[in-house]
Amino acid sequence: MDNGKLAAAKQALDYMPNQGVIGLGSGSTASIFIELLSQKVQAEQLDIMCVATSTQSQKLGAQLGLNVVDIDEVDRIDITVDGADEVDPDLNGIKGGGAALLFEKIVALNSNRNIWVVDPSKEHKRLGQFKLPIEVIKFGSHHLYRHFEKLGLSPSYRQTNGEYLLTDSNNYIIDVDVSGVDDLTALATQLDQLTGVVEHGLFLNICDELIVGGQ
Ligand code: 5RP
Repeated sequence: MDNGKLAAAKQALDYMPNQGVIGLGSGSTASIFIELLSQKVQAEQLDIMCVATSTQSQKLGAQLGLNVVDIDEVDRIDITVDGADEVDPDLNGIKGGGAALLFEKIVALNSNRNIWVVDPSKEHKRLGQFKLPIEVIKFGSHHLYRHFEKLGLSPSYRQTNGEYLLTDSNNYIIDVDVSGVDDLTALATQLDQLTGVVEHGLFLNICDELIVGGQ
């Protein structure tokens, strides 16, 4: 197990309330946190409900005995603990390496506090080394692909075993290169307005607290 990820996930336990709703992130670091959280909840008999950001996290949490409920069964999420693919010094980030960006953003935006748990390799002065995932509906996606090409974003469909990868919502992911984009806020606004784009992995002004493990 990656020591930085483990250390970050462990530290996030300190933020857990005795009672409340916790958002479970997705990815390897979030999975370590889910495992540690389940141990803490059982050992301390905490009154914790959870909502998940992916089918994978939902299954993992439930398997480990956490009370994972549908997001629409709760009014608000107290704290969400999630990973990230890249984070800059202002706590803006790129997420979606695990293709869970849509549910991750919905859960994050409905959380009172968002904590990201990362290892030091995720910290970058400037975002863009990691390809930005854009979730698009299948219908007309080739037109969006060509639009991204024209914008100079060198798009590529995310694939697995030679097939286009499908997200939990049955959409495609197009990864784009934003290393040459100066104004990512403007790009986020542009993507928010594009019909056919379901969500993108620019998480700007969402993270409240960053825990970097193993520094
Ligand atoms: C999934 C995500 C993950 O949080 C991100 O990819 C980080 O994953 P890991 O902790 O495995 O490095 O955004 O969509």
